[in-house]
Amino acid sequence: MRRSDAICPSALLGLLLALAPTPGSAFYFPGTAPTSYKKGDAVPLFVNRLTPTESRNDPKLRSAFSFDHYDPHFHFCQPEGGPKYIRESLGSILFGDRIQTSPFELKMATNETCKSLCGPQEYAPEDATFVNQRILNGFDFNWLIDGLPAAQLVTESEYDEPFYSPGFDLGRAPEVQMPDGGSDVVATLNNHYDIVIDYHEASKDNFRVVGVIVEPSSYADNAQYINNAEGYCGNDQNPVVLSIDAGQASSVTFTYSVWWRLSPTPFATRWDKYLHVYDPKIHWFSLINSAVIVVFLIGMVSTILVRTLKKDIARYNRLDQMALDDFGDGGAIEDGVQEDSGWKLVHGDVFRPPKHPLLLSVLVGNGAQLFMMTGLTIAFALLGFLSPSNRGALGTVIIIFYTLFGFVGGYVSSRLYKFFQGESWKLCFFYTPFAIPSFAFATFFLLNLFVWGRGASGAVPFTTMLVVVIIWFVISVPLSFAGSWLGFKQAAIEPPVRTNQIPRQIPPTGGYLRPLPSMALAGILPFGAIFVELYFIVRSIWFSKVYYMFGFLFICYGLMIMTSAAVTVLMIYFLLCAENYHWQWRSFCTAGASAFYVFASALIYWMKDVSFFSWTSGVVYLGYSALLSVLVFVLTGTIGFLASGLFVLKIYKSIKVD
Ligand SMILES: *[C@@H]1O[C@H](CO)[C@@H](O)[C@H](O)[C@H]1NC(C)=O
Repeated sequence: MRRSDAICPSALLGLLLALAPTPGSAFYFPGTAPTSYKKGDAVPLFVNRLTPTESRNDPKLRSAFSFDHYDPHFHFCQPEGGPKYIRESLGSILFGDRIQTSPFELKMATNETCKSLCGPQEYAPEDATFVNQRILNGFDFNWLIDGLPAAQLVTESEYDEPFYSPGFDLGRAPEVQMPDGGSDVVATLNNHYDIVIDYHEASKDNFRVVGVIVEPSSYADNAQYINNAEGYCGNDQNPVVLSIDAGQASSVTFTYSVWWRLSPTPFATRWDKYLHVYDPKIHWFSLINSAVIVVFLIGMVSTILVRTLKKDIARYNRLDQMALDDFGDGGAIEDGVQEDSGWKLVHGDVFRPPKHPLLLSVLVGNGAQLFMMTGLTIAFALLGFLSPSNRGALGTVIIIFYTLFGFVGGYVSSRLYKFFQGESWKLCFFYTPFAIPSFAFATFFLLNLFVWGRGASGAVPFTTMLVVVIIWFVISVPLSFAGSWLGFKQAAIEPPVRTNQIPRQIPPTGGYLRPLPSMALAGILPFGAIFVELYFIVRSIWFSKVYYMFGFLFICYGLMIMTSAAVTVLMIYFLLCAENYHWQWRSFCTAGASAFYVFASALIYWMKDVSFFSWTSGVVYLGYSALLSVLVFVLTGTIGFLASGLFVLKIYKSIKVD
């Protein structure tokens, strides 16, 4: 095996990202350097965890847990000396990968048929029940050959080319006629694997793996055909059904055949057939839809707002002038005062610090941190650095960015706290790096306890959690303190108008300006901008699919920012015109309200596409959905707050107040 030279598009960024430097002269992203084999070289096959997904006759998701390939219930054949874990990146482990060695022996460009994996395996009734349940839940094998996932060939509609969908069935659950005339679903275990590998000849006797398909079958009689040279390994009319009757153990032999197909696909494009855009029309539709909303909103903000504002400001300043002119004879002042209405009236209160300034500062600081992390991650993904061929890179990058942007979080939170004339500095320093991260981590930890409790091996190992906590304490917390310190040292943002001593009475606000209607109304727009991409992301997480439509995601993220900002500014303008000056929390919650829609959509998704067999799966699903919604709340809330803050500063700067 030798590394050959693949050119990466941007060496500088590659250097930044190359956490695991590859030996050799060229820059590689981890996992993307091609491996070349000679004919007959051993090509390792690694096994990853088993994941739940939809199955042929059941489009719904039935479980939220995944299982280790070598979970003792499965009795899958192990390599000599026991399986070993393959080293993985932190992101890969956090996202659930558990990659281990296997007993398969594949030789480059050498067809082999009906090889036995190990001796017959006995399934006691308890194990049979467990395995049958996993088959009915639609679990998939996930194998990796040379970094490529073993896939099943799937055709989505009759017009589409078939594509490679990673993962293949643990078993099938066909409906069979029972002797009494009814029908029943019987789980059959796949115990024979036809591994079809596409290989490409890069140069003479220099081969590369460019595609992997596994066609699994269930043969109860495959033990008779071991090493059959004709390639006939069993009768598919006679599948393996594990018996769950007490005292009856089932014996299963596992076999495989390997077929090597020469392919014209070069290494560089080997992932293309795996990356299938489900329903591209729907992405375009949603994109255009939200773009129209944004254009409409921005148009509204700019015409109504800018124009009315200009008029307002001109009028206020003219009135000021008149009042000054008429000061001597005191004639027309009443006239002017009468006209002096709207947002100018609250100038003495609009910069009065809100209730709970500490909490708001901490939330906005954390939101800024999330905002930077999300934006930069999506941008990196867009540039192609986080493609699925780069296993775990996405998770790793998210953690790195989140850790580093602790600095931004601290800075924003303490500057804001100073602006709010806060006094409890120590608390502000302390809560900023701890509030949202500990909340997220605690949720994550509790949900993992559930997964552990279920005995599912999809749980994140304790050591990995420890690593995350250490990274957070050693890097993120000090950075956040440093940011807070910098923000604390800087001069406070000066409000352009003085705050009155006595708070002004707020006239009762009615209609859509009441808190709940305004939130419900405004929150739906940012949600509308992201919800289609969100659907695909959530789906890719629960159904263990690859998500890579980062181009769409990038634009949607931009649209969401613009909608959040525009709609909140508009709402705050109306609020101030109604002489209500409590804009700070209102702007945060107005934009943040989109999180409620995110959670509601998770519930709808549950009703539509998910139907768990166990309540623990439901808890895990709800827990992660709630966590996601809280993060969205903080993120969009921050966007709304910062946009309104700038807006309020700007408009009150432009009027003259005596
Ligand atoms: C392996 O078998 C397949 C199917 O019979 C055939 O197309 C292919 O050429 C064979 N490959 C080799 C290397 O013999």
